[in-house]
Amino acid sequence: MRAERGRFITFEGVDGAGKSTQIEVIDEVLRTRGIEVVRTREPGGSPTAEKIRRILLSDPMSPKCELLMMFAARQENLDKTVRPALAAGKWVLCDRFTDASYAYQAFGRGMPFKEIRLLENFVHPDLKPDLTVLFDIPTEVAARRLQGEPDRFEREKKEFHDRVRKGYLKLAEMESDRFLVVDATRPAEDISKELRKIFLSWN
Ligand code: TYD
Repeated sequence: MRAERGRFITFEGVDGAGKSTQIEVIDEVLRTRGIEVVRTREPGGSPTAEKIRRILLSDPMSPKCELLMMFAARQENLDKTVRPALAAGKWVLCDRFTDASYAYQAFGRGMPFKEIRLLENFVHPDLKPDLTVLFDIPTEVAARRLQGEPDRFEREKKEFHDRVRKGYLKLAEMESDRFLVVDATRPAEDISKELRKIFLSWN
């Protein structure tokens, strides 16, 4: 007998929006429900994709190269991690996915929307997240939360991050059924409480 396909949940937001803490909380809630959870991230999620991530976060490159490498890493994450888990009935929590390519590479860098659509249709024509949680926060607040040495994206100017934030909100508006927009300016514990409640029953 084949297992029912698991759920594919993605998490998005500008850098510093506080995704990681909340992914942890959701992971815990789902496990208490007896659900098998696999956590992954993009760029990354497989040994090769993690190598691509290192290059993406550090080496200077053209926007086109950046976009293609994001999708190369995505192909790997899908092949090695996401699809096998979903096929086995596990739920996948993915820290960023293709919405990030629209937000960062299209809205942020100015790459044409339709080229990203083309890559999306090439790499995963058959797969969309079942749910996308967007942590929305003004970029100046998010920037204050960033810790450690900033990567190539975090070093971008405020205008870039503002375009990314606006882009995410636009995507959420375009596909309001798939998106859950969370006001990420609230204290982390309040957000966790809301998410715990939702994920105790979300199916
Ligand atoms: P992230 O894992 O959120 O960084 P951190 O470990 O610092 O929390 O994401 C890495 C960066 O990659 C982030 O700045 C957004 C960027 N990104 C894109 O530009 N396009 C994409 O398609 C993806 C998946 C990420």
